[in-house]
Order: sequence, then structure tokens, then C-alpha cells
Amino acid sequence: MKIGKGKTVVAASSLSKTYQTGDIKVEALKGLNLKIEKGEFAVICGASGSGKTTLLDIIGGIDKPTSGEIIVFDEELSLKDEDFLSDYRCSNIHP
Ligand SMILES: Nc1ncnc2c1ncn2[C@@H]1O[C@H](COP(=O)(O)OP(=O)(O)OP(=O)(O)O)[C@@H](O)[C@H]1O
Ligand SMILES: [Mg+2]
Repeated sequence: MKIGKGKTVVAASSLSKTYQTGDIKVEALKGLNLKIEKGEFAVICGASGSGKTTLLDIIGGIDKPTSGEIIVFDEELSLKDEDFLSDYRCSNIHP
């Protein structure tokens, strides 16, 4: 399953991720907007704890945002079930 043929590969809109452990809340991503188009070479950089791994986990379909949109290959990943995401990871995400 290779999905999507559009020129936008990754689009994030108002993307937020909050981790909650007991009473402690960590806002790892807060209203992120991002667009990466086909053929672009993109680098994600930032200080330790700034949310790089959190973003890659969401793009890679192994975690879901708390709010906002994440579209990869024309699919809105936050709406997908685990079966879809498993297939998506297998076909599209490579280490
Ligand atoms: N599973 C989790 N539960 C609770 N907090 C988490 C979890 N994962 C990450 N965090 C917190 O979210 C914030 C962002 O973490 P993240 O790992 O995405 O940062 P990073 O930019 O990848 O950091 P590094 O450069 O050290 O790899 C940090 O404050 C981190 O402690
Ligand atoms: Mg990291």
C-alpha cells in the first residue's frame, strides 16, 4: 500500500501532543504547522526535549496527536485505526 500521489508528503496543522503522567502534563508539541513536499530534503533540529522524536513518532504512525491534523501521503493519520497504521508503517516508513 503506497498511498497518495500529491506533491505534499507531510502536512501538519495546529499539531499538538501532550503527554500526561498522573498530574504532570508535558506539552511536547504545541500548535505545530509544517509542510514537506516531494523531493524536498528536510531536517528536523532542535534542543533536547523540543519534540523531534514526538513529531517523527506521529509522522511514522506509531503515536497520535492530542489535537490538530497530520496528513502524510494524503491520509489524515489521526483518524486511522491500528490496522491501517500497521499497514501504513510497513509500506511507507523505513528505518
Ligand atoms: N512517553 C512520554 N511520556 C511523557 N513525556 C514524554 C514522553 N515522550 C516524550 N516526553 C516529553 O516530551 C518532550 C519532548 O520529548 P521528545 O523525546 O519528543 O524530544 P526530542 O526533541 O526528541 O529530544 P532528544 O533530542 O533528547 O531526543 C520532553 O519534555 C519529554 O520529556
Ligand atoms: Mg529524540
